[in-house]
Amino acid sequence: AAPGPAGPRVVLVGPPGSGKSTVGHALGERWQLAVRDTDADVERTAGKPIAEIFVDDGEPHFRALERDAVLAALAEHDGVLALGGGAVLDLQTRSALAAYRAAGGAVVFLDVTLAHAAPRVGFNQARPLLLGNPRGRWQALMEERRPVYEEVASVRVLTDGLRPADVAVAVEDAL
Ligand code: S3P
Repeated sequence: AAPGPAGPRVVLVGPPGSGKSTVGHALGERWQLAVRDTDADVERTAGKPIAEIFVDDGEPHFRALERDAVLAALAEHDGVLALGGGAVLDLQTRSALAAYRAAGGAVVFLDVTLAHAAPRVGFNQARPLLLGNPRGRWQALMEERRPVYEEVASVRVLTDGLRPADVAVAVEDAL
């Protein structure tokens, strides 16, 4: 029931460290679909890493670039689409995801607990929002966003302890 070339076959949402990018690639391989990642799109547009966008231009500028990247990808990408962890905070993005779901599109919330996310995000300079106190900041983000991830998603998959290829199977089973 996934929509055709007019949009992605599946959109992945979830917090940093939930494995959106790696699971996205595992799904792309499994289904032989193109994979797109809005963090990478934003970095290409800006010509610099996300951490530098935050420092040089501020988070609001990053969020504006991210919104453009997400809306463009939702409109034109045919394949697997991984969103940055905070993309769902934007109201226009939420409306676009609701429309995509109403048209039969699948949005998967990759859920994860702190214990499993922490080793993936703890020392990563690429995640400016977590700098200083990665565990505490991650927990605060997740607490605030969990209801949003649940609202935008059509299915939730708990990824704790699973390798990317196993998460891909779990996603397929859940759809
Ligand atoms: C962010 C998550 C990051 C990246 C940016 C902001 C967030 O993406 O978009 O650092 O607000 O959660 P990942 O979820 O891929 O780490």
